[in-house]
Amino acid sequence: MRYLTIALAKGRMAKKSMELFEQIGLSCEEMKDEKTRKLIFVNEDLKIRFFLAKANDVPTYVEYGAADIGIVGKDTILEEGRNLYEVLDLGIGKCRMCVCGPESARVFLKNHEMMRVATKYPHIAKDYFYNIKHQTVEFIKLNGSIELAPIVGLSEVIVDIVETGSTLRENGLVVLEEICNLSARMVVNQVSMKMENERITKIISDMRALLQSR
Ligand code: PRP
Repeated sequence: MRYLTIALAKGRMAKKSMELFEQIGLSCEEMKDEKTRKLIFVNEDLKIRFFLAKANDVPTYVEYGAADIGIVGKDTILEEGRNLYEVLDLGIGKCRMCVCGPESARVFLKNHEMMRVATKYPHIAKDYFYNIKHQTVEFIKLNGSIELAPIVGLSEVIVDIVETGSTLRENGLVVLEEICNLSARMVVNQVSMKMENERITKIISDMRALLQSR
């Protein structure tokens, strides 16, 4: 039997998604060692391996078939626009993609004025402003701490993830518009879905049953 390879997005969601896999019987002892620098974890009995990758790279590994299955945020799936099957909402890491800024920036949105939008998600931001709002704006790509941009005058607004809203609150910013809801999703390589249909379908249905029982 060939190994089934599962890619998990590093960070906040990795632990929770591993716990879900454990509960459907796909565990990996060596992954629990938090000090390990190992990149790939194998369960020889089940012929399954897990690896952790940067969230943005998970859809790439899955599209090319280097991973059969991936667990990654909907934000990353939308931003990367890869060819893959999105098969399940894991209901973890729930948050929203929003246009945020100081209350004073609301008028720019309302009047469709030219403004600058800072974001880590240029594709999502462009799709929203061009295709949904039909508003011409300038985009500035940033890589983190996006909330800084309107504070120091780099942009009027930002497009970013809001989870609890505390980053916004503590920096005098508000949600101006909501773009979409986000959460962790299971994605599957399109060829693997055919070649390993039985094993992958079982994982999907076990996971679905687990989520429904919670
Ligand atoms: C994310 C996001 C916000 C924050 C939202 O950033 O970009 O900054 O979390 O969470 P909250 O609504 O609960 O405050 P993250 O911490 O992932 O790091 P980054 O700023 O480097 O993107």
